[in-house]
Amino acid sequence: MADSEVDAATPEPVMEDEGLLSTLDIVLVSVIAAVLIYWITFRKKTPAEEIPEFKKLTTQVTTTQEKSFIEKMKKTGRNIVVFYGSQTGTAEEFSNRLAKDAQRYGMKGMAADPEEYDMSELSRLAEIENSIAIFCVATYGEGDPTDNAQEFHDWLQEGDAELGASTSRCTPDPLFDLVRFQVFALGNKTYEHFNAMGKYVDKRLEELGAKRIFDLGMGDDDANLEEDFVSWREQFWPAMCEHFGVEATGEESSIRQYELEVHGDIDMSTVYTGEISRLKSFETQRPPFDTKTPSWLRSRSTAN
Ligand SMILES: Cc1cc2nc3c(=O)[nH]c(=O)nc-3n(C[C@H](O)[C@H](O)[C@H](O)COP(=O)(O)O)c2cc1C
Repeated sequence: MADSEVDAATPEPVMEDEGLLSTLDIVLVSVIAAVLIYWITFRKKTPAEEIPEFKKLTTQVTTTQEKSFIEKMKKTGRNIVVFYGSQTGTAEEFSNRLAKDAQRYGMKGMAADPEEYDMSELSRLAEIENSIAIFCVATYGEGDPTDNAQEFHDWLQEGDAELGASTSRCTPDPLFDLVRFQVFALGNKTYEHFNAMGKYVDKRLEELGAKRIFDLGMGDDDANLEEDFVSWREQFWPAMCEHFGVEATGEESSIRQYELEVHGDIDMSTVYTGEISRLKSFETQRPPFDTKTPSWLRSRSTAN
């Protein structure tokens, strides 16, 4: 009895008709579908991924123009070219000095690496007025040229195709008739083949018919190469001037590396006199005196 009463009082649980999918599921499915549709539709429209373009490598091609020292000389108004055959830089330095010297005589020179130029153009040098090719060449190994002069050496040996098949190696070539040259050789007399490269270039150019202006310079590294160069150069330039009928222009100022300027408006108490590192070291002399800080009084009295 009691049980039936309870059943009557408790209402039956109402089962809600939820269907197959809940609202949340529908929303989720719709969102995913929308995203998918969007992705499919618009992804196609986005521009294809750009493939980075590789820049074309611009390889340095040396043109015939660049290899032509004749054209370069013409373009820059130079009439002296100083070729160097150098391994450790001495011949190169001498070449630069000779090229610079030219200014004193109203000429213009340039130092050049034979490896960078077409040396078969030598025969064309006469196209430039009052021109000369100077060679500062060192010798290495068994009387061999330096690396940068190897090709030039080979060209001299071959006689070069440009001389024509009929031209024998030792026959002067008319093309070289008006070409002037000069050689300064760098070497060391303790080697068996002392200055072999310089001697060879000198001999070979003469054979080809080019005209030597002054004696072959012979630099000896075993004695005093700098002294050999300086004294040869002092005689070479007058010979050059005589040959071309030119005089020194007196443009020493363009060669000098310093300039004299007299300042009268300077407070002398701030100027170093005497030793360069000590202010007023001339007026206030303090012992100990040594080779670095000599006594000015003592040296003056000794001088008297
Ligand atoms: C390894 C070596 C080999 C050399 N061979 C010779 C040689 O055969 N004949 C010669 O006269 N001088 C020879 N020399 C001396 C150089 O030609 C000389 O020092 C020259 O000034 C070097 O010039 P550079 O500094 O322009 O290369 C040689 C020097 C070295 C270091």
